[in-house]
Amino acid sequence: MHSSLALLVPLLAVLTSVSAQTCNQTSLCPSTAPCCSEYGFCGSGYYCLGGCNPLYSNSLDSCKPNPICESANYTLVDTSRILTNYTYFEGNASEYDWVVEEGTIMNTTSSGEAALALLLTENGGGTLMSSTRYVHYGKITTRLKTGRWAGVVTAAITMSSIKDEIDWEFPGNQTTTGQTNYFWQGVIPPQTAGVTETGLSDTYDNFHDYTVDWSPSSLTFLVDGNVTRTIMASDCVDNSTGVSQYPNTPSRIQLSIWPAGISSEPEGTVEWAGGMINWNDPDYVSAGHFYALFQSVSVECNDPVAPNASDTGYVYGPNATLDTPSITFSNTTTELNGGAMIGAGLGGVQGFLVAISIMFALAVHVF
Ligand SMILES: *[C@@H]1O[C@H](CO)[C@@H](O)[C@H](O)[C@H]1NC(C)=O
Ligand SMILES: *[C@@H]1O[C@H](CO)[C@@H](O)[C@H](O)[C@H]1NC(C)=O
Ligand SMILES: *[C@@H]1O[C@H](CO)[C@@H](O)[C@H](O)[C@H]1NC(C)=O
Ligand SMILES: *[C@@H]1O[C@H](CO)[C@@H](O)[C@H](O)[C@H]1NC(C)=O
Ligand SMILES: *[C@@H]1O[C@H](CO)[C@@H](O)[C@H](O)[C@H]1NC(C)=O
Ligand SMILES: *[C@@H]1O[C@H](CO)[C@@H](O)[C@H](O)[C@H]1NC(C)=O
Ligand SMILES: *[C@@H]1O[C@H](CO)[C@@H](O)[C@H](O)[C@H]1NC(C)=O
Ligand SMILES: *[C@@H]1O[C@H](CO)[C@@H](O)[C@H](O)[C@H]1NC(C)=O
Ligand SMILES: *[C@@H]1O[C@H](CO)[C@@H](O)[C@H](O)[C@H]1NC(C)=O
Ligand SMILES: *[C@@H]1O[C@H](CO)[C@@H](O)[C@H](O)[C@H]1NC(C)=O
Ligand SMILES: *[C@@H]1O[C@H](CO)[C@@H](O)[C@H](O)[C@H]1NC(C)=O
Repeated sequence: MHSSLALLVPLLAVLTSVSAQTCNQTSLCPSTAPCCSEYGFCGSGYYCLGGCNPLYSNSLDSCKPNPICESANYTLVDTSRILTNYTYFEGNASEYDWVVEEGTIMNTTSSGEAALALLLTENGGGTLMSSTRYVHYGKITTRLKTGRWAGVVTAAITMSSIKDEIDWEFPGNQTTTGQTNYFWQGVIPPQTAGVTETGLSDTYDNFHDYTVDWSPSSLTFLVDGNVTRTIMASDCVDNSTGVSQYPNTPSRIQLSIWPAGISSEPEGTVEWAGGMINWNDPDYVSAGHFYALFQSVSVECNDPVAPNASDTGYVYGPNATLDTPSITFSNTTTELNGGAMIGAGLGGVQGFLVAISIMFALAVHVF
């Protein structure tokens, strides 16, 4: 599931009056609005930051470099390094570790241990929080408690600018399982599908460590340090075209809770998520929201080549192998306006919200 694209926001009404230029493989962005945002709309400013697609932008270097990986243990209750309004982000990954792209976060100790709650409401939709840095191979462990409500999905994924994606996802009606999946440039490699890992102790009641160990040659999923699934890159070659359909581009970490069980979602998505959300659920009525709890994320970078001390970001170059762009380090700024302090907003706030709402309206789910 492309969970990051599937949060539903209540801004849909806005979109009817505005037309934003979309970008795709056959229609790159113009020089006046050079960057193709993660939601597939042309613009400037923060359109050029996290998720900006270099292949659909005006030129390969229109997007800002992707801030490079830094090994870290993020304690999510330390909210001082989480920017809650993405429209103010200027690309300084030393200033913020995370940005809330949509929705609401909240500190909580209700489960007995401090954690960050990502909220989901009927009118407000879900919550999506992205890392400001990218990982170009590495081991990522997220400690979380899932929701337990049919139609409500909890997710911890990696997502690249060209939609390479690695997923841990948790449909809310099944609290003893977790689902793993991966995509290459938005495509599910033909020989795989999502795999359900069973036999977990209740994922709503218990924190578990969900790990993705991603290297150029293999992808391993673990729960509490135990391997549950391994995928070899060599098995991901499409033998009819010779293309390696293995995730291989720098990716942000995205944590989310999103409503899959709502009437605007395709039937297959609703069913996958366990059915329609019951907004009269006693948990929802008493708390005023559904939630998923995220305690920590640890990142051990595993770049195939070590960066120079002055390198700050990853950039895309011409294809290194068939249909696979080359990735190199860059020492140019990852920040808007050359890293100089600028006023927030840039007149683009409205456009950003509109773009998001349009994208959410268009959200398409692929199994
Ligand atoms: C690509 O974008 C152009 C311009 O916005 C649009 O007309 C076209 O329908 C898009 N193509 C696809 C396949 O989405
Ligand atoms: C993260 O925590 C682990 C385990 O305590 C430790 O081995 C590792 O060095 C820490 N990483 C960083 C970057 O601090
Ligand atoms: C983020 O900031 C912009 C600009 O001030 C504002 O319009 C928008 O409502 C804010 N979003 C949220 C979720 O607070
Ligand atoms: C980025 O953030 C860091 C940490 O807050 C700060 O020291 C640095 O000056 C910022 N860089 C720019 C260009 O604003
Ligand atoms: C969350 O809790 C931590 C400590 O437990 C505190 O430092 C932080 O300021 C809190 N954040 C908010 C938004 O309340
Ligand atoms: C693996 O799973 C077992 C329970 O089956 C558990 O006791 C153990 O702590 C887990 N982790 C590791 C690293 O073995
Ligand atoms: C392509 O061939 C290799 C070598 O025989 C094999 O390991 C791999 O699974 C094949 N790929 C697919 C998608 O079947
Ligand atoms: C959850 O929903 C899925 C998909 O509709 C269904 O196959 C499964 O049986 C449900 N699980 C439980 C525990 O209700
Ligand atoms: C490190 O810098 C040298 C000199 O500028 C350059 O040739 C080399 O490609 C750089 N390596 C990386 C990994 O950035
Ligand atoms: C490079 O790869 C992309 C897919 O990542 C593909 O669309 C494009 O056609 C390739 N370009 C060349 C020149 O082969
Ligand atoms: C930045 O990279 C360029 C090209 O690789 C190199 O010539 C230059 O010396 C680098 N600058 C620094 C400060 O390392």
